[in-house]
Amino acid sequence: MCQLKYLILVAVSLCVLACTVAGDGGGRPLVTAVTKDAATSLYTIPVKSGRPLVLDLSGPIVWSTCDDGAPHDTLECNDIDCMRAHRFHPPSYGMPDVHSHYPCKCTAHPHNPVSGDTASGDMTRVALSANATDGINPLGPVSFTAVTSCAPDSLLQGLPAGAVGMAGLARSSLAFPAQVTGTQGVASSFALCLSSSQGNGVAIFGGGPLFVLGQPISEMLGGSTPLRKYKDSPGYYIMASKGITVDGVKVPPGEHAPLTIGLSTTIPYTELRRDVYRPFIDAFDQAMERWGAAGLRVPSPAAAPFELCYNASKLSQTRFGFFVPRINLKLDGGWIWPVFGMNSIARVDRATACLAFVEMKAGDKAGYGGGATPAVVIGGFQMENLLLVFDEEKQTLGFTAGQHLINGRSCGQFNFTMPA
Ligand SMILES: *[C@@H]1O[C@H](CO)[C@@H](O)[C@H](O)[C@H]1NC(C)=O
Ligand SMILES: *[C@@H]1O[C@H](CO)[C@@H](O)[C@H](O)[C@H]1NC(C)=O
Ligand SMILES: *[C@@H]1O[C@H](CO)[C@@H](O)[C@H](O)[C@H]1NC(C)=O
Repeated sequence: MCQLKYLILVAVSLCVLACTVAGDGGGRPLVTAVTKDAATSLYTIPVKSGRPLVLDLSGPIVWSTCDDGAPHDTLECNDIDCMRAHRFHPPSYGMPDVHSHYPCKCTAHPHNPVSGDTASGDMTRVALSANATDGINPLGPVSFTAVTSCAPDSLLQGLPAGAVGMAGLARSSLAFPAQVTGTQGVASSFALCLSSSQGNGVAIFGGGPLFVLGQPISEMLGGSTPLRKYKDSPGYYIMASKGITVDGVKVPPGEHAPLTIGLSTTIPYTELRRDVYRPFIDAFDQAMERWGAAGLRVPSPAAAPFELCYNASKLSQTRFGFFVPRINLKLDGGWIWPVFGMNSIARVDRATACLAFVEMKAGDKAGYGGGATPAVVIGGFQMENLLLVFDEEKQTLGFTAGQHLINGRSCGQFNFTMPA
C-alpha cells in the first residue's frame, strides 16, 4: 500500500516535470525577428512589449528605460543577480558603488557601446516576450520575467528611433540568452542570422533546429571553432591560428599572431588593428591587380572610412555578391570562414563599391573588459546572411558556409507565419 502511494507520487511528479517541459510554450526555444535599422546599421529584436531592444553581442546585461510614471521594484544589494550584474564593469568605471545604507538598492552601470556612454540605473525585473518555436514557425507568444537594468533616456543616444534599450547577448548569466535558458529550461545556445535592410533576420534562443524553406539549416553548418576568452571581456572571441588569406595568399600576420577575433553587432563593418589593417589592404589591392582589375579603382572621397573603392558597374555580380578575391579567416580547428563579395564589398552609392573593412581607432569602443583590443572585430555587414550558432554548452561558434545559404535560401526567409 505504502509502495503504491510512493509509485503514484513518483508518477505524479514525473508528469509535473514532463508537463512543465512540454507545456504551453515552456521548454521550447524562442524565436524573434531581427530588424536592421537603415539609419544606424544596428539590429533590433521586439521583445519588450513589442518595443525593440538593440542586439549587443558584447553586452553582459539587458537594459532599458524604466517607465518614470510607474514605480518599479529594485533588487537588493545582496540579491545574487545584483552581484552578477557587478561582475562586469564597463570602461571608465572601476569597482561598483559601495552601498552603506540599508536596505541597499542594487545599482548597475548600463553601457551604450555606440555612444560610448555609461549610466547608473536600478536593477529591476521586467516582462520580456518572444514566440516559442519548433524551428519551423512561431508557435505563440511566451512572456518571461527578466532581470534588467533601468537606464535614463539619455543613454538611448545613437540607437534606432523607437528602441528602448539594449539586449546584451554576451557570456553572462544576466545576458538575454542566459535568461531565456534559465526561464524556459532550454539549451545554452542561440542562433543569429542578420539580414541586410531588406527583409528580416532571425534569432533563435535555446538551441534546436532552424528550418528555412523546408530545409534544416543547422544541419548545413560548415563547421565550428572553439570560443575563447579575451581579457575580462564577456564577449565572444575566436582565434585565426593560421591567419588571413586573400585570394589564397597569406596576409603578413601583424605584431601578435595568432590573431584574436572578436564579434560585434554594434559596429557596422569589421575593424582591423593597424598592424593587421595595412598588410590586409595591400594584399587585397595586389589580388585585384593580379585579377587584372586594378584599373577599376576609383577615387572616392565620399566613401570614407573605406580606402579601396571600385567602379561598381564594371565589377561582375554573382550569387555571392560582387566577384572579387575571396578572403579566408583560417580558424582554430582547421576551419575556414570564407568571406565572399556579398560580405566584403559594400555599395556606397550607385557607381561605387568599396572594400568594407576599416582601421580600428586606438581606444575605440573597447567596451566591457577595459581596453581590450583584439586584432580583428567582425562587424554586422560581415555577419549578414550567415547563420551563426553561439553554443555555450560546447563552447563553440558554428556557422553555415556561404554556399548553402545562397542556394536559394537565406535566413531572411524564416517563415514567421503562425500555423492555423
Ligand atoms: C510572435 O509571432 C507573431 C506572428 O508571427 C508576431 O505577430 C508577433 O510579433 C511575434 N511576437 C514577438 C514578440 O516577436
Ligand atoms: C565606371 O564605368 C562606367 C562604364 O564603363 C563609366 O561610364 C564610368 O565613367 C566609370 N566611372 C568612373 C568613376 O570611372
Ligand atoms: C509558412 O507556414 C505556414 C504555416 O505552417 C504555411 O501555411 C505556409 O505555407 C508556409 N509558407 C511557406 C512559404 O512555406
